[in-house]
Amino acid sequence: MKKILTIIGARPQIIKASAISRCIADKFGEQLEEIIVHTGQHYDPEMSEVFFKEMNIPRPKFNLHSGSGTHGRQTGKMIESLESLMMQEKPDAVLVYGDTNSTIAGALAAVKLLIPVVHVEAGLRSFNKRMPEEINRIATDHMSTLLFAPTDQAIENLLKEGFSTEQKTVDLDHPGVFKCGDIMYDNSLHFSALAEHHSSITAKLGLTEGNFILCTIHRDSNTDHPERLTAIFRALNELSLKHKTDIVLPIHPRTKNAIANTLDERFQQELFSNEHIKIIDPVGFFDIITLERDCKMVITDSGGLQKEAYFFRKCCVILREQTEWVEIVEQGKAILADANIQRITDAYDVLSTRHADTFPAIFGDGNAAEFICSKISELL
Ligand code: UD1
Ligand code: UDP
Repeated sequence: MKKILTIIGARPQIIKASAISRCIADKFGEQLEEIIVHTGQHYDPEMSEVFFKEMNIPRPKFNLHSGSGTHGRQTGKMIESLESLMMQEKPDAVLVYGDTNSTIAGALAAVKLLIPVVHVEAGLRSFNKRMPEEINRIATDHMSTLLFAPTDQAIENLLKEGFSTEQKTVDLDHPGVFKCGDIMYDNSLHFSALAEHHSSITAKLGLTEGNFILCTIHRDSNTDHPERLTAIFRALNELSLKHKTDIVLPIHPRTKNAIANTLDERFQQELFSNEHIKIIDPVGFFDIITLERDCKMVITDSGGLQKEAYFFRKCCVILREQTEWVEIVEQGKAILADANIQRITDAYDVLSTRHADTFPAIFGDGNAAEFICSKISELL
């Protein structure tokens, strides 16, 4: 029996972790014991608790309550607590997801204790080191012993950085690299069937299927630059009025604060009086996948939403200059529009004319969690 310490903290990591926890419970209960540690990076009930309830994720054995703060302070607090916990629990491996401060904190604390790090969502690159997530991903990959890459592009990125996919036995100096597909695809498949019976959000918001836009915004590159945030909201305002289309925007707390503190007051009033723009609290997973399934298009700067739009065969306007999920853009199902009013409205018009027909399976077959669990059991 191998003891795995899983580190989660931010919303997408809680969601991703549910796939592995489910797989361990269903198929690997005799090989793997999982202990979940929540760093406390996200703490509002709708950013954390809701997912444990809805997705049947085992309760974290430890919550470090690290909370919000500057990068150094937040990450430092996590590393200190995680190090003590790892010394106490002595796991055989530490599992981290994605590219947040909780990811790098978990990897750094573990690697210095010579505990093998398993990185799920390895190899993604935006090639923009001004993104805090890019630093977190590169550093985490280079501290890992097992790297699970979701796409061919992610594998290619790792090969260029000197990794090899040929390792037969693995250790810190000879890490193993595997393409496994996207763990979120496992979840979207599993939960979309259940969402039918657990979400009434479209009726609650008075939305017409196929005639509303789902939007999320939370990247610091957008929220922390008032001129960019203003441009995005001006584009949303324009689109909703021109096309008489509702835009549903479950608002991340960071963006809620940024609107209140930095957007021009008169523009805020204009926005709030536009009945097509429905700014709501962050929603749970059943509601978000229902919105993804029923919307006309997604407009987002979220990594997760870009992919989930694709899973549900929806086109996506990406509110960033680059994306790690380049395959979606190459398939013509998403357009990078940055925070530019003209580019956002043009992208919406172009994508509105594209048929939702061919969405090749670039994110695997929905069995990423099983593959990951089997490799951990076999190699560590
Ligand atoms: C973090 C990740 C980002 C990921 C996102 C997912 C880093 C560097 N960034 O960004 O990669 O895409 O999570 O959502 O790790 N806040 C609350 N309540 C909460 C959580 C946050 O009010 O439960 C507010 C606080 O004011 C906080 C701010 O949101 O300062 C930002 O939170 P933080 O976790 O630092 O970064 P995110 O923008 O959420
Ligand atoms: N999500 C959710 N409720 C919301 C917004 C997003 O459940 O109100 C889910 C979304 O479906 C995806 C994940 O959160 O699975 C993405 O998280 P986020 O956009 O915060 O982070 P990113 O993926 O950009 O790191």
